[in-house]
Parts: sequence; C-alpha cells; structure tokens
Amino acid sequence: MTQSMLIQRFIGEPGGLLKALHALQNSNTNNFLSPQDLELVSGAFGVPLAKVWGVATFYSLYSTIPRGRYIIRVCESAPCHVVGAHNILTALAKNLNICTGETTADGKFTLEVTSCLGICGVAPAIMINDTVHGNLTPESLASVLALYN
Ligand code: FES
Repeated sequence: MTQSMLIQRFIGEPGGLLKALHALQNSNTNNFLSPQDLELVSGAFGVPLAKVWGVATFYSLYSTIPRGRYIIRVCESAPCHVVGAHNILTALAKNLNICTGETTADGKFTLEVTSCLGICGVAPAIMINDTVHGNLTPESLASVLALYN
C-alpha cells in the first residue's frame, strides 16, 4: 500500500489529520514523519504545510527525526517519580549507552520521557511502543529489554 493510499481513509474524518500522521509514522521503519510525509498530508487534507509541521512538532508522540524501532518512554510523573523513575531512566541510559532523546547505534531503541501512562498502580512504569511495563526495578530492565529482538 502506498503512503497516499494509507491516509485516504482519514480525509474528512474528525481528527483525520492526526490519524493520518500516526499511520504514516507507524509505517516508517524509523518511527518518524519525513518532510515528504508532511507534504503528502498537507496536500491530501488541503492544510498549509506550516500548519502540518506545527502539529507534527507539537505532540510528543510524533517525531520529525528518525528514531529506533522501539520507543521506550519512561514515565516521569509524580507517582512514578517517588518510587524511583529516575533510577529506571538512569539504568536504561546506562544499559543502552544513550541519553534521553537518543537512539542506539543499531537503530533499535530510542529513549524518551513522558507524563503519566495511566498505570500508576504499578509504578514505576515505562511503555515500549504500545506495551506498558510496570513494577520495574533497575535489575528487572534486562529481562524487559530482552523481549524486544
Ligand atoms: S505516574 Fe507513572 S504511570 Fe502514572
């Protein structure tokens, strides 16, 4: 399916532009929106390119720079923070040898921070792509990362 065909079904739908951006981002190997993707959405939805860029750069779930196959989002909100989210973030950065916002050299993981994931009962928590992991300790991270090949 071409990129153009991928977004046709969202034209005229409420929130369609956001859905189209999600679909395009998910279809790209590097989990990002290219300039060509944004131009495609601009043309298909009849929205100025500057406005589409504005949307793509406003929401943290979109990226206009290439990222890893797996996006690790570490929750930094208060309930996770008080039970050790910072230790989780530090351990992930050390384990992956990257800083927040960076991607591993093999293009596998990108490390990001986020607000509450809605699973505070199992804090500290992270999300890897669409899957959440809770009750984490720095020691348990290796087994979580091993789930992603
Ligand atoms: S505060 Fe971390 S999941 Fe809610």
